[in-house]
Amino acid sequence: MDIIGQFPLFYFPEYGSAWMMGMTGTIHILASHTSVGAAMLFAYLSYKAYKENRTDLYPYMKKYGMFLLIFSYVIGSITGPGIWYTATAASPRGISALIHNFVWVWATEWVFFVFEVIGVFVLVYFIDKIDKKTHLKLTFSFAMASVGTLALIIGIISFMMWPGTQEYYTTGSASDAFFGINTFPHMFLRIGFMIMLSGVIGLIISSAMKKDNLELSRELTKKMGYISMLGGFLVLFFFMWYMGTLPDNAHAVFNITKADVIQSRIILTIVFSIYFLVAIVKPQFISTPLAGVMVFVILIAGIWPGEKLRESMRKPYVAGQYIYSNQIISRDVPGKGIKSELPIIAQKGLLQVNPFVPENLKVITEENKHEAGKLLARMACSNCHSLEKTGKYRPLKDRLAGMDKEAIKSILYAIGAGGMPYMPTLKLPENETDAIAQYLASMKY
Ligand code: HEC
Repeated sequence: MDIIGQFPLFYFPEYGSAWMMGMTGTIHILASHTSVGAAMLFAYLSYKAYKENRTDLYPYMKKYGMFLLIFSYVIGSITGPGIWYTATAASPRGISALIHNFVWVWATEWVFFVFEVIGVFVLVYFIDKIDKKTHLKLTFSFAMASVGTLALIIGIISFMMWPGTQEYYTTGSASDAFFGINTFPHMFLRIGFMIMLSGVIGLIISSAMKKDNLELSRELTKKMGYISMLGGFLVLFFFMWYMGTLPDNAHAVFNITKADVIQSRIILTIVFSIYFLVAIVKPQFISTPLAGVMVFVILIAGIWPGEKLRESMRKPYVAGQYIYSNQIISRDVPGKGIKSELPIIAQKGLLQVNPFVPENLKVITEENKHEAGKLLARMACSNCHSLEKTGKYRPLKDRLAGMDKEAIKSILYAIGAGGMPYMPTLKLPENETDAIAQYLASMKY
């Protein structure tokens, strides 16, 4: 019997499973990037405290460390496994591809992570109990472990965009998968963002210290302004480099929304440049509520659209440019012994080859055609488009509005022929194409 290695379909109505991933990921990014950024910031402050004998910086680090422990580490540690659960449900074969390529990289990352979590406790607890030099050494190793987790994860995530080397497909080696042309620009882009975030969070802590020590509070607010500004510049600079290392399909998707993306990023850059300038020039104007609100602005106007864009630009793939978002393998990867599933699907149909399709829908008849069309649309399209009339995630209602069955069929043929680079070139047998078109037409979008 011909079957392909599918998993049960996780169908999330209205918002789509990708939004679930996006929401978990966005919160996780805020927490994890803050932690790594703060680790670098601590190394800097601890160095200053040691070199210039600035023991007054320790209470600031202690407060900041407590804040990290309560927010970043708790939220990060909940949403981290949350990403695993969500991704496993939403994209089991995407996760499987990553594990099969990077299992030791991940194992190493976890070693760094354990070091990092213990490190932050130790740092906060021992801050005024050990000598300055030992504390400095601890902070440096904490920073290195934190940046280590980032570097390893970014290699893995960059592979999701594309391996960035052709050799990978023949060798299947982890290092070819890891060191694509996209990895380093992506890494530096994130480091810039982390530095910026460490300053933005730092402003909450420094402004809250006004009543304890006004002068120190102002000095640190200024410093956080400079640090955020530096991080912001790095983000802009490395973003340009990053964009230049993306594959063609990414540019095809980016071009659709380019004008809006650029406009909203310019507005965001202006708003934050003003905010950082105020922190530098008029630190007394930065209050804790304002600093808190700005973190939310970054979360909602910065990270969320940024991550959505990165997810979109990866389309039609979910990982390595060989697994489509709808969980179908689209090309041979000889180095991994992987074969494209497109030919067998074109020949036998999705219903036949997917082992989780209920028996009564395996063969399309007049009676089950509507049900079969619905299931096929879910299997083929719902990973990237909401099917509901009120759907929010790249909804088909806008893209198929007013089309009848024949018009939808011609779209499906065009998709199957590779006419739209951001969609899977999924060619289905005539009876399945007909069933999907009939079902989608019956939705009367
Ligand atoms: C891998 C993700 C993915 C899958 C699976 C997918 N699409 Fe798309 N689709 C996209 C993207 C990305 C766009 C372009 C951006 C947009 O329109 O928002 C798009 C656009 C479209 C458009 C507008 C075409 C245009 O260029 O103007 C239609 C129609 C469409 N998809 C139909 C479908 C149908 C029907 C299916 C199921 C057979 C499907 N898509 C499966 C990602 C996907």
